[in-house]
Amino acid sequence: MSAIATAAALSLPISLCRSSRFSTKKGVRGGFGVFALFGEEGSLVDKKSAWGALFDVEDPRSKAPQLKGKFLDVNQALEVARFDIQYLDWRARQDLLTIMLLHEKVVEVLNPLAREYKSIGTMKKELAELQAELAQAHREVHISEARVSTALDKLAYMETLVNDRLLQDRSTTESDNPSPSASISTQSLVDIKINLPRKGLNVSGPVQPYHPSLKNFWYPVAFSTDLKDDTMIPIDCFEEPWVVFRGKDGKPGCVQNTCAHRACPLHLGSVNEGRIQCPYHGWEYSTDGKCEKMPSTRLRNAKIKALPCFEQEGMIWIWPGNDPPTATIPSLQPPPGFIIHAEIVMELPVEHGLLLDNLLDLAHAPFTHTSTFAKGWSVPSLVKFLTPSSGLQGYWDPYPIDMEFRPPCIVLSTIGISKPGKLEGQSTKQCSTHLHQLHVCLPSSRQKTRLLYRMSLDFAPVLKHIPFMQYLWRHFAEQVLNEDLRLVLGQQDRMINGANIWNLPVSYDKLGVRYRLWRDAVDRGAKQLPFGKSP
Ligand code: FES
Ligand SMILES: [Fe+2]
Repeated sequence: MSAIATAAALSLPISLCRSSRFSTKKGVRGGFGVFALFGEEGSLVDKKSAWGALFDVEDPRSKAPQLKGKFLDVNQALEVARFDIQYLDWRARQDLLTIMLLHEKVVEVLNPLAREYKSIGTMKKELAELQAELAQAHREVHISEARVSTALDKLAYMETLVNDRLLQDRSTTESDNPSPSASISTQSLVDIKINLPRKGLNVSGPVQPYHPSLKNFWYPVAFSTDLKDDTMIPIDCFEEPWVVFRGKDGKPGCVQNTCAHRACPLHLGSVNEGRIQCPYHGWEYSTDGKCEKMPSTRLRNAKIKALPCFEQEGMIWIWPGNDPPTATIPSLQPPPGFIIHAEIVMELPVEHGLLLDNLLDLAHAPFTHTSTFAKGWSVPSLVKFLTPSSGLQGYWDPYPIDMEFRPPCIVLSTIGISKPGKLEGQSTKQCSTHLHQLHVCLPSSRQKTRLLYRMSLDFAPVLKHIPFMQYLWRHFAEQVLNEDLRLVLGQQDRMINGANIWNLPVSYDKLGVRYRLWRDAVDRGAKQLPFGKSP
């Protein structure tokens, strides 16, 4: 959110300030729109008279908070807002005093004794002037009232934001996660305004370029079984083309999918003895991107970009970020007792965030998946997602399904299967058999996602040995996905054209909203991410 938009969101009513009378001093710690309204010249203190206590209010301007630097913390912001209210209150009293003094003058002019000494013409002129002054004073009183009222509303709003943030902090702490920074910056207050479900999460318009922070994670990009010694896997990641292949030692490498010579896509070539060969003039590259062969010409020093790339537990991982990669690659293995039955990769024409939103939502199942896994499901009177252990991990009620969002783009779920078609009322623990799912939504581009899906079961191991079972699983997975896809594509269309896809979240949207809170923090480049560790 820009500083201007922030100011508009939280500023006191600056539009009511007139430059001739009110100097508006922005509460300079950028991004936070508390405007100090003090600084008006002149006062009517001297004119205070017999009306007494009503106007006997100290001029607060000498106590104006001294604002230096760029960002206000929440306490400073509240102090400024409170000061503004004090000032506006004092200002309103001054305006009222003006009116009363003017009334006094009117009475004086109309006084029979005074009339004796003045001509009718003089009196008329004086009266007209006084009436004009009086009307002006009345207008100012109304404006003062409106300003005080708006300032009070803003103060109440800010206090709500602070309370919400404190509640959020507390729930995060309770779930054994590192809590967000103890000092609440005004910037994060603004972000809370954007992010809190009931206060308007805004995900609308074309997807913005990805923040570099989102790249500083390990991303699974392929299943090991799909990468043979002589095959290549072209992938798009964050709008750049890469190609994965195995080197001489069998270890995978990920290099730029563009030849250094004349930019031919390398994946159109082949892999020979651990080098990828460009199909145009035959230049060959090793997994670190070094060109090792240039047929028909003298070998020169040429290199293409290569990313850190490792293989772990049946998956190929890359680190697309500029920061040094973290030392450990996360484990995405199914729990003990499960056997992997299917590994499926799909390229989908949707932005990965939309797909994650969809995967993290189960409440849509009885409406969307009526031809597949949710066929015959009744619609519960209440669906909830409970997060007892972590902000991004929990279970669905009344469905026997555990679910987790694993940053940066992974969804893990375990589904209890006791009586197909009748899932209600049981937790996963109560079910004797389970299906475990892994969904990786790799951000290929702002319109495309590479989906890696892995399905494991803790029963019927024999299924693994049935010929062509892989094809059947793929068919099932595609059927389910197609039920979602037409809806998500529609959402994407609406979103690009300005609709907010998180316009009105409700309680069962909790996990999706939390993903968006996390994503917003990454997109802002926040050092401390909600619900988890810093990247
Ligand atoms: S473009 Fe690749 S070798 Fe010429
Ligand atoms: Fe779905």
